Amino acid sequence: MKPAGRLLAAWLLAAAGSVAGANSGTGSTGSGTAAPVPGVSNEPLAHQHYMLQCQGCHRPDGTGTMATAPPMTGIVARFLEVPGGREYLARVPGVATAALTDAQLAELLNWTLYRFDAAHVPAGFKPYTATEMGTLRRHPLRTEAKAVRSALMTELDRRQAAR
Ligand code: HEC
Repeated sequence: MKPAGRLLAAWLLAAAGSVAGANSGTGSTGSGTAAPVPGVSNEPLAHQHYMLQCQGCHRPDGTGTMATAPPMTGIVARFLEVPGGREYLARVPGVATAALTDAQLAELLNWTLYRFDAAHVPAGFKPYTATEMGTLRRHPLRTEAKAVRSALMTELDRRQAAR
């Protein structure tokens, strides 16, 4: 019995629909068709899950805020470059504990990587599958997430400096 919650959900669904419509490229300009996202069979649904479960902390454009979540835009896929990074992205609390099925969550994480940081997705990247996600999320990071994150960031910086 939370009408305000239902209204918000309805608004978000409507917003998701209009974004999907904007991306579907039915116009005659020919420039509106977004490239399909690898490992995502239903992009509007993945976007909707992001809006409902993630953007409160990460913001609609993935930039986050000092108070809620670190920025993902232009950086999140870089974790895939370092050992343990792939696992980290699936085990981070906000991902691992989301109220979504393994398949939905795998699609959402693939969507997040390509929509916010396609430039850094490594060439040979294999999208997360439901099976992999199911295994990884069963071992969610808890209080140690920040320490794991900063160790990965240190390794990223080290590699960057060595280039
Ligand atoms: C309550 C706020 C919150 C919510 C909701 C949330 N996150 Fe996060 N997210 C964080 C914080 C804070 C971190 C940094 C690691 C940590 O301390 O947990 C993070 C880290 C991440 C990371 C790793 C990248 C990095 O820079 O560390 C990914 C990927 C991510 N979140 C995706 C998601 C997705 C996808 C959802 C929705 C299913 C989501 N998050 C929901 C707060 C949140």
